[in-house]
Amino acid sequence: MRFDLLTLFPEIFAGFLGQSLLKKAIDRGLIRVHVHDMRDWSRDKHQKVDDRPYGGGPGMVLRVEPVVECAEDVQLQGAERGHVVLLSPQGRRLTQAIVEELACHRRLILLCGRYEGFDQRVVELLRPDEVSVGDYVLNGGEVAAMVVIDAVMRLVPGVLGDENSHRDDSFSSGGRLLEFAQYTRPREYRGLHVPDILLSGDHEEIARWRGEQSYCKTRERRSDLLPGASAGDLDREETDNTKRPADG
Ligand SMILES: C[S@@+](CC[C@H](N)C(=O)[O-])C[C@H]1O[C@@H](n2cnc3c(N)ncnc32)[C@H](O)[C@@H]1O
Repeated sequence: MRFDLLTLFPEIFAGFLGQSLLKKAIDRGLIRVHVHDMRDWSRDKHQKVDDRPYGGGPGMVLRVEPVVECAEDVQLQGAERGHVVLLSPQGRRLTQAIVEELACHRRLILLCGRYEGFDQRVVELLRPDEVSVGDYVLNGGEVAAMVVIDAVMRLVPGVLGDENSHRDDSFSSGGRLLEFAQYTRPREYRGLHVPDILLSGDHEEIARWRGEQSYCKTRERRSDLLPGASAGDLDREETDNTKRPADG
């Protein structure tokens, strides 16, 4: 899968791209990330890309020409034009379902705003998928783009060593449940014990316990997720649990 990042601050991504799972995925050729500095498309001799808002008001607005021309050139750089995502607090709020949808694309072009955001004609011309990472305002789209990449890459086949790893994750499997409680060694710490069931080796019972845990936790913390959930969710279909904690 290919990601193209359009930004005014390319250096922000250096640490992110050079660490952990993402670095491994890039090294293995599963993910490609290209970072483009929108200033390179500025027509201004000082590489200025922003200007004052028409109608007055505070702050600066990203000009339409460098953004649109950068996006159009970048689209032509790949075998396919890609799905254009514009990070914006006004976009549809990111959920695991949207992450799954985005992961179906082979190429995502992520537009990171700054200042007061983009000139509206960027939206009219590029017709991007406007995505928000939550109801709050960030200084720029870079962190939001990292959120999108981080969530989407987990779904790219081969990126997580074990393809089952995200199966039980919160919001996965239809987005209705939070994940059950997880434990690892030691069996006891400061008087707190790992539940006996997880040490029983009875995978069917463990699956049932985890299903109940998921359901109860969701009801307690995020009952808004539950209306579509049925009692059947209590019994997980899969009993062969690959995410078993190690014996202590
Ligand atoms: C300071 S914000 C501009 C906010 C804009 N004036 C508004 O009120 O909608 C600058 C940039 O940060 C990014 N950004 C801020 N909050 C975001 C969010 N919740 N989700 C995604 N991107 C966000 C966008 O790319 C935005 O263009």
